[in-house]
Amino acid sequence: MDMFTPDLLILNAAQLVTPGKGWKLKVIKDGAVAVKGEKIAALGKTDDVLPLVKKTTGLTVIDAAGKVVCPGYVDPHTHLVYAGSRAEEFALRLQGMPYMEIAKRGGGINSTVKATRKASVEDLAGFARERLARMLGWGTTTAEVKTGYGLSTSSEMKMLQAIRLAADSQPVELVPTFMGAHEVPPDYRERHQDYVDLVVDKMIPAAAKTSLAEFCDVFTETGVFSIEESRRILLKAKQMGMLPKVHADEITPLGGAELAAEVGAVSADHLVYVSDSGIAAMKQTGVVPVLLPGTSFFLDSKYAPARKMIEHGLPVALATDHNPGTCTIEGMPVIIGLACLKLKMTPEEALIAATLNAAKAIRRDKLVGTLEPGKQADILILKVPDYREIPYHFGTNPVDTVVKKGKVALSS
Ligand code: NIG
Ligand code: FE
Repeated sequence: MDMFTPDLLILNAAQLVTPGKGWKLKVIKDGAVAVKGEKIAALGKTDDVLPLVKKTTGLTVIDAAGKVVCPGYVDPHTHLVYAGSRAEEFALRLQGMPYMEIAKRGGGINSTVKATRKASVEDLAGFARERLARMLGWGTTTAEVKTGYGLSTSSEMKMLQAIRLAADSQPVELVPTFMGAHEVPPDYRERHQDYVDLVVDKMIPAAAKTSLAEFCDVFTETGVFSIEESRRILLKAKQMGMLPKVHADEITPLGGAELAAEVGAVSADHLVYVSDSGIAAMKQTGVVPVLLPGTSFFLDSKYAPARKMIEHGLPVALATDHNPGTCTIEGMPVIIGLACLKLKMTPEEALIAATLNAAKAIRRDKLVGTLEPGKQADILILKVPDYREIPYHFGTNPVDTVVKKGKVALSS
């Protein structure tokens, strides 16, 4: 390789860690990364990288001695644009009222819908920015964000605009998902079918017209959207250029994973009650399972069968599911900890699931999710000497420095 002049050099990392083949991490001791512009130009052992670089004025050099260097976390499932609080509902749940019971009484998602409908695009983007600043602090460099607290054509479009506005004003890259079928709003309670028609005939074409949504997601669940309704919504979205995703088998075993496979979804998410045939179907059609252990923890419910999915060769991904009702966790290191403690994933698997596999779940794996020459320079420096310390120091934040597209976005 010819010598080159990097813009950023990270040297002497105790471990430079990046997903390799299958469920294996590549760990380079005394590692270094050289960044040119927005991309990774070279990486390897410090002694091998240094001879390749010509140092010029303007070069930033970071000494990562005693620290882990790894890819920025990708959070492929969030609902981080919303207004209001559900602390009251949280207290009711603590007294034993189930999540779906609260929803039936007009609380749950619909209580956030009320607050979100009242907020302006700027307000919503502002609330989102506060959350994104904390997420960046935990090492998230790319996050998927769903609509679904508007549930009318205009409010759903407002949410898409708020996602765009939030994306434009801070470093975390956002991947927008239209989720008009998140719940049936109160005004359609008695005419469920009309709401599905509204989503299919009005909202999806409107969302497609704005080009502001890359994916379309549906809450496929008993009492919310049936398999048939979800199929109709997702096929229409696909026809209009949005890629399907499914909230599948979260609370009841409805066959959401099978539906995800049938419609060619990019991911099926939650999967707490996934069936064996759902696992087989996902494997066959390349659906990425996105597991959300923070939600199981927050709802004090069952955990998804992660080991079974890994054993079946599925590229399990992890996400926060950050939302005001079922999981307020914002940091991927907490999710990595829960994945180890509750999903029985190894620290190695959990880190791969939070980076490369998470990128696969939002079709960004060619761009981010690993540290490789040519990929986007989304890089974390962690204040720990071994990546296994991430889940071990459960609940703490190991982030020292965050590099987004080659620029230091945060340093402590
Ligand atoms: O992923 N399951 C549906 N949607 C969210 C919850 C949203 C809410 O309660 O506000 C979830 O858990
Ligand atoms: Fe969700």
